Amino acid sequence: MPLKKVAVLVSGGGTNLQSLIDTIHNQYGEIALVISDTPDVYALTRAEKAGIKSMAVDYRSLADKNDFYKILMSALQNFDLIVLAGFLKILPGEFYEKFENRIINIHPALIPSFCGKGFYGLKVHQAAIDYGVKLSGATVHFVDGSADTGPIILQKAVEVSDEDTAETLQQKVLRVEHEILPKAVRLFLEDKLDIIGRRVKISE
Ligand code: GRF
Repeated sequence: MPLKKVAVLVSGGGTNLQSLIDTIHNQYGEIALVISDTPDVYALTRAEKAGIKSMAVDYRSLADKNDFYKILMSALQNFDLIVLAGFLKILPGEFYEKFENRIINIHPALIPSFCGKGFYGLKVHQAAIDYGVKLSGATVHFVDGSADTGPIILQKAVEVSDEDTAETLQQKVLRVEHEILPKAVRLFLEDKLDIIGRRVKISE
């Protein structure tokens, strides 16, 4: 059987993309396209080094922002799975209709804490520190059209110590992101995820 086609959408350094290149690419699925909403990010270099086709669609330079989503939609037509790996744009509704239960996102906190609009990057970790939580972590979930609300596939916690800053917590959480994102993508590609209401049943 041909490998399923995976597209990865990025906005930055792409360490999560790298974890997928290292463990998923050409084994469980083919990462056939990487799209960035920003040119010159290191994620694009990672794709190039791995011989994966990539495109930068510069959101900021487009006069009509709808063009951005039109370009993405046409590039993604034949994909089985879209992974949002540090992608900062919120995709419009037509994407969830076309790719229902086929878009996966990674969020650097234990949803439903520290998530939703405005919670991205270091802001997430600063909010966790400011609140004084003893545990934070990462969540991989299906995307359902609102920010960070779709059915949860996997979560993993990390301990927050008194010494942690937003930066050190980010590094701790990234380590678990690199475990659970490839795992969730593999489970999807092996057809081992069943969505029942808000629950995702995993058959291993
Ligand atoms: C990660 O923390 C991810 O959870 C969030 O954005 C960050 C991206 O990091 N959505 P990277 O580009 O994969 O290194």
